[in-house]
Amino acid sequence: MNRQNWKPGNMLYPVPAVMVGCSRLNEKPNIITIAWAGTICSSPPMLSISIRPERYSYDIIKDTGEFTVNLVTPELTKAADFCGVRSGRQVDKFELMNLTPTHSQFIQAPGIAESPVILECKVKQIIRLGSHDLFMAEVVNVSVKASQIDEQGKFHLNQMGLVAYSHGQYFSLGKKLGKFGYSVQKKEKLRSNRNREDAGRSSKHEDGQGQKGKTKRPKPKCPGRG
Ligand SMILES: Cc1cc2nc3c(=O)[nH]c(=O)nc-3n(C[C@H](O)[C@H](O)[C@H](O)COP(=O)(O)O)c2cc1C
Repeated sequence: MNRQNWKPGNMLYPVPAVMVGCSRLNEKPNIITIAWAGTICSSPPMLSISIRPERYSYDIIKDTGEFTVNLVTPELTKAADFCGVRSGRQVDKFELMNLTPTHSQFIQAPGIAESPVILECKVKQIIRLGSHDLFMAEVVNVSVKASQIDEQGKFHLNQMGLVAYSHGQYFSLGKKLGKFGYSVQKKEKLRSNRNREDAGRSSKHEDGQGQKGKTKRPKPKCPGRG
């Protein structure tokens, strides 16, 4: 097969493009758009974001040890792009983008009210890598927009067209291709699941696993148990 070898670079795409909220005492809240973000642990729930030290947000997050990760929908994409090309040193991004800072439950850093999912994060470790520092953080709260939860308690995360970043462009999550474990599912079960989904009686949670155990705070389950 005819292939080319290119010099090493970042070609792990698509990745999520998220809006990260942060704030320091007596300063306006700020948002930095981050594409170098990922889930790094299931229990405790942890994620990472990589930030260049020259960013205005870098010192704020380093000093406070807190930030929020706000998932981006198509309606928020323009604001996400703006927050990724303008610095909080010069502008008030919340104000200019008509975004509403919300109080978080467990940290001081603000969330973005317009985002359907806000993850409140506490920094556990910072690792110097090179151009970027890796901030590893624990997710201490997940706040979801109640208006996105239907009468059956199902949170329609995959219907929101969440935004991904790939090779310099933004995309909205589209066609469903399968679900976790579908490659090994028995044909019979697949058919009955499809019928159930058609009848609008699919399980409460999107990975079809339901909620295990009793938790004080409702926890929308996410696919993938890696
Ligand atoms: C789609 C997109 C993704 C970005 N990803 C990152 C990233 O992962 N890490 C980073 O340090 N900067 C990233 N940036 C750049 C910062 O968001 C940008 O420099 C921003 O203006 C910094 O804001 P601040 O100075 O207010 O902190 C990204 C920008 C865009 C548009």
